[in-house]
Amino acid sequence: MANLLKSSIGRKFLMALSALFLIIFLIVHVSVNLISLFSEEAFNEASHFMGTNFFVQFLMQPILFAGVIFHFIMGFVLEYQNKRARGNIRYAVNSSYNATWMSKNMIYSGLVILAFLGLHLFDFWYPTVKAHYCTHEELNYYMELHNKFQEPIRVLIYCISFILLGLHLNHGFQSAFQSSGVNHPKYTPAIKYVGTLYSVIIPMLFIIIAVYHHFN
Ligand code: HEM
Repeated sequence: MANLLKSSIGRKFLMALSALFLIIFLIVHVSVNLISLFSEEAFNEASHFMGTNFFVQFLMQPILFAGVIFHFIMGFVLEYQNKRARGNIRYAVNSSYNATWMSKNMIYSGLVILAFLGLHLFDFWYPTVKAHYCTHEELNYYMELHNKFQEPIRVLIYCISFILLGLHLNHGFQSAFQSSGVNHPKYTPAIKYVGTLYSVIIPMLFIIIAVYHHFN
């Protein structure tokens, strides 16, 4: 681990692993939240399970938070590293003509997602932790979620963040596979295709959830 962190390729590899882990987390997260579109009871049961299960709370959640923190710290480290490298070889800038604006500025969409996460954890995670460990109230997870999306401004901030999340994922998905060594002329186009689908579908589902609860 220490050796991986010391080399630039090792850092990119670890960044890619944390990205792949977060990509899987988003699938689980959106799946649980989608239940809220169909059944209040089922959503409350699923959330209760996630919020009280020992394995989820004391193993998966700490790993998730560690993964999120690692991903953001590494994002800043790699951005600094890239900036320095670009500064040293200004003449080679032309070599990055093929890169999209978003791929060269992942740090900005990442910063918006970081700000969103701050708001989101304050909105949803903090009240759950408070209810579980401080006030010991019985939570109606569905009503918590539903009430949060009554304010138009919150829905708007969330939806803008989901669009930026989509743009971040569109480059991040294929880049994570490439940096983790999955790079083959036969598979790369398929990975790009799945990445584009993923980065459109996941944020769109999150948008549908927020908008649905606002209008219902
Ligand atoms: C409409 C969209 C979303 C809804 C309704 C939603 C809902 C929730 C809820 C209810 C919780 C609290 C779970 C608990 O009781 O502990 C939560 C936690 C969390 N959410 Fe979201 N979420 C949404 C989008 C997102 C997105 C896009 C991300 C990542 C970019 C995200 C990342 C997290 C994280 C890291 C946690 C804390 C870990 C956890 O408790 O599972 N969420 N979310």
